Amino acid sequence: MHREAVILETREQLDQFISHRGYSSIFILVDEHTHTHCLSSLQNSCLSLRDVEIIEVEPGEQSKDIAIAAQLWEALIQLGADRNSCLLNLGGGVITDLGGFIASTLKRGMPFIHVPTSLLAMVDAAIGGKTGINIAGIKNQAGTFAEPEAILIDSSWLRSLPNRESLSGFSEMLKHAIISAGGRPEAMLEIDPHTFIRDTPGSTLQALVRDSAHLKEVVVRQDREEQNLRKALNFGHTTGHALEAVAATTKNPLTHGEAVALGMIVALELSKATCELDPGFCTQVQNYLLQHYPSFPEIDAAALWPYMLADKKNKDGEVRFVLLAAPGRPVIDAVVDKETFSTAYDASKNLLT
Ligand SMILES: NC(=O)c1ccc[n+]([C@@H]2O[C@H](COP(=O)([O-])OP(=O)(O)OC[C@H]3O[C@@H](n4cnc5c(N)ncnc54)[C@H](O)[C@@H]3O)[C@@H](O)[C@H]2O)c1
Ligand SMILES: [Zn+2]
Repeated sequence: MHREAVILETREQLDQFISHRGYSSIFILVDEHTHTHCLSSLQNSCLSLRDVEIIEVEPGEQSKDIAIAAQLWEALIQLGADRNSCLLNLGGGVITDLGGFIASTLKRGMPFIHVPTSLLAMVDAAIGGKTGINIAGIKNQAGTFAEPEAILIDSSWLRSLPNRESLSGFSEMLKHAIISAGGRPEAMLEIDPHTFIRDTPGSTLQALVRDSAHLKEVVVRQDREEQNLRKALNFGHTTGHALEAVAATTKNPLTHGEAVALGMIVALELSKATCELDPGFCTQVQNYLLQHYPSFPEIDAAALWPYMLADKKNKDGEVRFVLLAAPGRPVIDAVVDKETFSTAYDASKNLLT
């Protein structure tokens, strides 16, 4: 039987949860930024976390690395971690992926708790029980399916998040609203992703973030190991991942969410062409993304195609997209050939001009 993570919404609930569980020891994993912006505030709110070991890694994707994981395993063993200890991962998706990976493998699995502090981690990375590290520069090549014992969704951490990171997380929120039967894309399209964290009152922000995390949780619960429905979460990601990978080799890398935003523009175009998506809805979402996100980089369709072919979700050498028949009705495993993709990609790139 799969044990689901408990979703908590206040630091008091987290404090109580931890006190109740009676862990033999607790370790908090942070990166330099969450150490500065989040750690003392968490420890001030939670008595149970005042006197615990802190482990810090460098911020950024390069910390999702096997050498770092090995250092962390060693550190935890030296500090006396056992199977009744708990690793609390305080940070963005890098920290939740890395911390989840080392905890779920150390001693064949020690408990861990996620306290996501970036928007992307709150609505996406911390939800759904996937952990991972990168190998030889290829993302998430080693990882586990492992559930944290609890996840604290506390949007008040977001106040210190840099604007570009907010924008990145917001495109996943929009994605959840578009692909989920219970999503409300129209409400999302009224939000200015550049300013909403600053301008939205605390309780409304909390509800927005929690509801988006919940939409992902609902999808994952129906298909934890990604045989089927869970693939819908890859909407915008086939082109998005390829754009992210190619842009990473240039002077102007894209964040994951920026690349996904552009990927969604292309997926919408393909959905209009091949899945009878309502052109009005397609244009409305595309215009929103074009208005708020950086424009397409100078990368042509032919340069993206090999990356798309290498996507681990393909089968039989065919590129498979998640498309959309209507809001809330994703079409998974839609096979798209190179020519159809190129046409839709070029049309998307030309939308502004
Ligand atoms: N496991 C999954 O299902 C899943 C899903 C989506 C993404 N991911 C992974 O998540 C990672 C991306 O996550 P991310 O965008 O959160 O990256 P990240 O962890 O690198 O965080 C982005 C930046 O924001 C900083 N930061 C985080 N919280 C902050 C705060 N409250 N105040 C100030 N700065 C803060 C971080 O230090 C970092 O510099 C990728 O590695 C991706 O593969 C995993
Ligand atoms: Zn994503």
